[in-house]
Amino acid sequence: MCGIFGYIGTNQHASTFILEGLKSLEYRGYDSWGIALQKDDGTVHITKHPGKIGDAKAPNVLSSLGIGHTRWATHGGISTENAHPHTDCTGEVVLVHNGIVENFALLKKELSLKGHLFKSETDSEVIAHFVEEMSKTSDDLDEIMKQTKQTIDGMNAVIILFPKKQLFYIIKNGSPIVIGKASDGYYIASDATAILPHTKEVYFLEDGESAKLTRDSLIILDAYGKEKEPAFISLPYDAQLASKGNYDYFMLKEIAEQPTILRAISQNAHAEVSKAAKLIKDAFGTYLIGCGTASYAALAGTYLFSKIAKRHVNNSIGSEFTYLVDFLTNKSLIIPLSQSGETIDTISAVDHAREKGAHILAITNSIGSTLYRKANDNILLNAGPEKAVASTKAYTAKIAYLYLIAHEINGTYKNGISNLNLAIDAIVQLLHEQDAIRKIVDDIKNQKHIFILGRGLSYPAALESALKIKEVSYVHAEGFAAGELKHGVLALVEKGTPIILFNPHDETYEDTLSAAYEVRARGGYVIGLAHDNHEAYDEYIHIPDCQDATVLPNVVVAQLMGYYLAIAKGFDPDKPRNLAKSVVVK
Ligand code: F6R
Repeated sequence: MCGIFGYIGTNQHASTFILEGLKSLEYRGYDSWGIALQKDDGTVHITKHPGKIGDAKAPNVLSSLGIGHTRWATHGGISTENAHPHTDCTGEVVLVHNGIVENFALLKKELSLKGHLFKSETDSEVIAHFVEEMSKTSDDLDEIMKQTKQTIDGMNAVIILFPKKQLFYIIKNGSPIVIGKASDGYYIASDATAILPHTKEVYFLEDGESAKLTRDSLIILDAYGKEKEPAFISLPYDAQLASKGNYDYFMLKEIAEQPTILRAISQNAHAEVSKAAKLIKDAFGTYLIGCGTASYAALAGTYLFSKIAKRHVNNSIGSEFTYLVDFLTNKSLIIPLSQSGETIDTISAVDHAREKGAHILAITNSIGSTLYRKANDNILLNAGPEKAVASTKAYTAKIAYLYLIAHEINGTYKNGISNLNLAIDAIVQLLHEQDAIRKIVDDIKNQKHIFILGRGLSYPAALESALKIKEVSYVHAEGFAAGELKHGVLALVEKGTPIILFNPHDETYEDTLSAAYEVRARGGYVIGLAHDNHEAYDEYIHIPDCQDATVLPNVVVAQLMGYYLAIAKGFDPDKPRNLAKSVVVK
């Protein structure tokens, strides 16, 4: 939530760097944006705009020091005033902030009583005034920053620019922030991919740490205020992976990348898969946790481990796991699933589990992320940067890993690989036949509701599919266990209501077919995804038999449906309204 970017160095094009950085971070929030640039005379040029960045041009200001922000509103509506950067009363403290200052109301009251005038409704602005207030009695900026860090409660990342001093500080507690070291200076961002066009050498600030940057120096202070040597790492991917290439939208690009990513997993994952299988076998109780799409991957894991590995593996939504930790011990294994590695609900769940001594095996897509750093062991999805807000390739990569781990536990890894390869071929085929999916989308695009039904392994796939459709197209889509239909959902089915039916030829086939008949009898329009056509379907999409890996192509169909529905309705599938990609607030 919210993207922040900063540059300090010798290059006079900070304005362009920051605008491009914000465009790259816009998936984190796109309610409003703004940039502050320090000019040669020590004054600051600030520009702020409600709405998305779109085709905006970089401010025509030569500067080698600046900060920018793209906002996902928490405190205060979407307006120019509430857009970042924010300043104190004097304009000598300029900042961008990601997170929530939990004690902002109290701080604001105290500062108002001391005469500070607030220009916005945000929690962020109080930080600027707090720094200003401290500066009245001290010019020791290091000390002021220490006090500021100790005073603001919550999970926050802040860049505070002092234009007159030509430097800035970073405070980090909770929200992610990464510093890139390049030949022309330092680049700071909420996400390493925004820095990639400039450098691959990055340092991920730890919670509690702060940094002081001038044009030619970087000082990192640990949580106790002691100077420390930052351990820079080299990012394992290239800038072009984070660009749209020839695609109109990241979402379609990322859907299309899935065969390549899954093939790499099929070819290279065995060592990590067997490490994970051993951890699960040795653990006394395993929990898969995640939020949103990752929670559906966690649920899918429970089904996959039960069916393939004959092993009970629990799952929980990240935000609910906090209420399930009482019985965890140091023999428990927690597997957080997260594309970003920064989802606060998942991180909090992991923190609770760590307090109980549980072992953490993180499955994430982001090297250096908070979950990556908190885990005892890691599996990296290696799906490349995922920029569209709706998660696609990270989901199928998670499922592929869980699927292979289940097979490894069962001693049938080779079998798992051949089914995964069948699924990859099926996805390639689907990507070649997108016209059929577009035609169905055209038929159903004006419907109010879409239901997706599946049993067994296809049930979590139905939940994920519904999320994919609803979040980008704003059509109400709901996934159900097909058996639940007659327990209530059927009341919503009327003439023409589209029902997407996942009906692989497994143990669920006949019962799922019954659901098709029940829906048809009420006028529903059944779109069967199956190995063979059947009279119970009004429309049919052929999905080759990939055994238990059939869920992968099934979900890809729903990803494409969501995408084309969004396009048909004129929405931007990469930036659904009200959402942001990394959910770093509770
Ligand atoms: C939906 C979606 C979200 C995320 C969720 C968790 O398409 O992207 O539901 O899956 O916010 O994010 P990560 O995986 O980064 O923890």
